[in-house]
Amino acid sequence: MKRTLTALLLIGSLALAQADGAKLYGQCAGCHQATGQGVPGAFPPLAGHVSEILNLKGGREYLIKALLWGLQGQIEVKGMKYNGAMPAYNGLKDEEIAALLNHIATAWGDDKKVPGFKPFTAAEVKALRGNKLTPQQVLEERKKLGLK
Ligand code: HEC
Repeated sequence: MKRTLTALLLIGSLALAQADGAKLYGQCAGCHQATGQGVPGAFPPLAGHVSEILNLKGGREYLIKALLWGLQGQIEVKGMKYNGAMPAYNGLKDEEIAALLNHIATAWGDDKKVPGFKPFTAAEVKALRGNKLTPQQVLEERKKLGLK
């Protein structure tokens, strides 16, 4: 009896530690689409674009901030202008944000275009959570990367 309980507790905590990025991405797919292609002019693509961001200095931190705090204002992705609002996901747990970022980095092969790509960790998300930003401030962070 005691052993069964311990086993159940163990399985339970493993399930908690392993956030499912593909499943969580269901929340994003309405806008960015299941294929990550987005909708031209309305929702920017993530497929083939996440690697562009990750290859910039500070890009990794920027992606975490965009997920935590959202993004608002005019941006340009692959020559197309967007001026929408990306919702903030700071209500999600650190491991869920990390799992989502790992999903969008790997689902369409972007990780293969980033030399030395390392999976996002919950600790990295936790480290940035303390400094709350507005979606407009996230746009400023985006500009600092040199993105239009
Ligand atoms: C309601 C629609 C919507 C949903 C849902 C949404 N996004 Fe976004 N996302 C946007 C828009 C619009 C932008 C661009 C914002 C702008 O124009 O300033 C964006 C921008 C982004 C960016 C930054 C791209 C860049 O070039 O800086 C990332 C990364 C991103 N979204 C990932 C996600 C992920 C992951 C999810 C799910 C957790 C998600 N988005 C959910 C609409 C959405």
